[in-house]
Amino acid sequence: MTFSCQHKVLNRSLYNEMYRASLLNPEDFWREHGKRIDWIKPYTKVKDCSFDQDNFKIRWFEDGTLNASSNCLDRHLETHGDKTAFIFERDEPGYSTHITYKQLHSQVCRFANSLKSLGAKKGDRVVLYMPLIPEAVVGMLACARLGLIHSVVFGGFSPEALASRLEDCEARFLITADEGLRGGRKIALKENADKALSLMTSSCLEKVIVVANTGIGVSWNQGRDVYYEEIIANMSDICDPVEMAAEDPLFILYTSGSTGKPKGVLHTTGGYLVYASMTHEYVFDVQEDDVYWCTADVGWITGHSYVVYGPLANGATSVIYEGVPNYPDYGRFWDIIDTHQVNLFYTAPTAIRSLMKHGDAFVTKYNRSSLRILGSVGEPINVEAWQWYYDVVGNKNCPIMDTWWQTETGGILITPLATGEPQKPGCATQPFFGIQVALYKPDGTRVEGEGTGALVIEESWPGQMRGIFGDSKRFIEAYFSAYPGVYFSGDGARRDEDGEVWITGRMDDVLNVSGHRIGTAEVESALDSHPKVVESAVVDFPHPVKGQGVYAYVTLKEGESSDNVSEEDLRAIVKQQIGSFAKPEIIHWAPNLPKTRSGKIMRRILRKIAAFKESEIGDTSTLSNPESVIELIHSRPHQKI
Ligand code: PRX
Repeated sequence: MTFSCQHKVLNRSLYNEMYRASLLNPEDFWREHGKRIDWIKPYTKVKDCSFDQDNFKIRWFEDGTLNASSNCLDRHLETHGDKTAFIFERDEPGYSTHITYKQLHSQVCRFANSLKSLGAKKGDRVVLYMPLIPEAVVGMLACARLGLIHSVVFGGFSPEALASRLEDCEARFLITADEGLRGGRKIALKENADKALSLMTSSCLEKVIVVANTGIGVSWNQGRDVYYEEIIANMSDICDPVEMAAEDPLFILYTSGSTGKPKGVLHTTGGYLVYASMTHEYVFDVQEDDVYWCTADVGWITGHSYVVYGPLANGATSVIYEGVPNYPDYGRFWDIIDTHQVNLFYTAPTAIRSLMKHGDAFVTKYNRSSLRILGSVGEPINVEAWQWYYDVVGNKNCPIMDTWWQTETGGILITPLATGEPQKPGCATQPFFGIQVALYKPDGTRVEGEGTGALVIEESWPGQMRGIFGDSKRFIEAYFSAYPGVYFSGDGARRDEDGEVWITGRMDDVLNVSGHRIGTAEVESALDSHPKVVESAVVDFPHPVKGQGVYAYVTLKEGESSDNVSEEDLRAIVKQQIGSFAKPEIIHWAPNLPKTRSGKIMRRILRKIAAFKESEIGDTSTLSNPESVIELIHSRPHQKI
């Protein structure tokens, strides 16, 4: 297979033609496009999928074999070995390094050999709890090289959240760093990891591998802890990639759902890699000499598909940045763009909104003329933020790819493409090749033409998740039972008069705070664990920067009052059990929560109160306690956002 970044800007008729072909004959379409990656043994079977509950299966390129890490590294060595794979920009301005494909390959092989010498074998689970530094990518690819299943846990998660993930996937190895650095602030990753391990009741964990990132001394468990730098020191930089079946697992990534604990979303090797690399190339129109920068952390799916697997499979040059958008000031992103001449830039609306607040001067101080395409991901982009991104950041020269997708989908499903046509701010626009989007009414019938409904996908695509780690029944229940026979995303959408798709937001109890996906049930369970709390109900409220904020209604035990339970205590519990990013912004003391006669909390009403939309509450007479609604409207805390 030759280097694949050859795509030229799509035009409308080419998109239409390819899209039609992808639906008309998916077998032929994917048989052809599956060849974009290197296979050890080429596949003969392309697609064997059924969403029917009695015959449920999702298998792509099933009899082919490959290795994801050699697709990301080895196949570029001959022609592009000296090309930069990553430009690593440190938290502190002025420090950046270029890592070539050859160097990355060598690091990955050495670390893979170290893992092997520690006894790691195909199928073992390896958790990474890392800052966004090159060693995080090296760790992921070393796992892929050996057929180990990696599970990256975002560095902002608390020790408790890390512990539950380590337990759930029965990890044998944990890779972490002494500390992370974000905006000059130190994140005590090793200390958190130690706490997590002390909390675990059952553990298969054998080794903790620690990257010396800041070099600070950390507490050490002899026999369990090893330094990354020490174990790779004398390792060979030759390591044969393990031959993996297309449907062998590549990684697990935990994400929140509307109920229960986070789900270990499982992705497999062949279809995922084909889909990540194809979407990356087409959506961003990646050209040979482009510099691409996706600001996502590797702890999220965007970091997996569009920092690691997609760009590397395509032989692209990417920026990775350890820090935050506002350090040392609000111009850091644009400074990095000028310094490294970034052409393709992919970030989240929350970052755009947080920078927009501080005015245009931080942007216009920089040139940004290298930019060609802008991307947005993770949450709805409001029109004002879209317009600022387009007018100010992109100088009205760069189309915006508002990409809709999910941890579960593996790659982008709905997106504009750089067809040169005018764009509609905030419109996710059209499905990617092979994606059969439909809107369903509550009765399970399709919405034809203009209208709104539940956003479902009617046919499988190669990047789709294959299951929930350790819980196959929950996979079908969570995604294929609301509308039998199709994949339900949990989002709602609207189709406009041109047939284009607008995402209207989650239809379930999942919040999206600064692009972080948070299950209301998880926050409630943390709050309810406070000894003075009887129950709680968590909803979203509109937040000017974060998109959504966390609003918690809390009922205290009889005899307790807000005089002896502090809001800070409650926030601390959420921080401890999940992470700082999930802390409720607003706590509303609620002696009574509005409930139906069968005892169900009426979240719809709570959402209206939180959003100051009490005029839209409607009839409350069927509640068992309608007076609670008036009480809550009157006691609503003043919002200082
Ligand atoms: O509600 C949608 C929202 O983010 C959810 C998926 O979150 P997660 O699995 O963490 O993946 C985020 C990165 C792909 C979706 O169900 N979402 C994602 N992208 C968009 C979006 N909402 C509106 N517009 C988008 N472009």
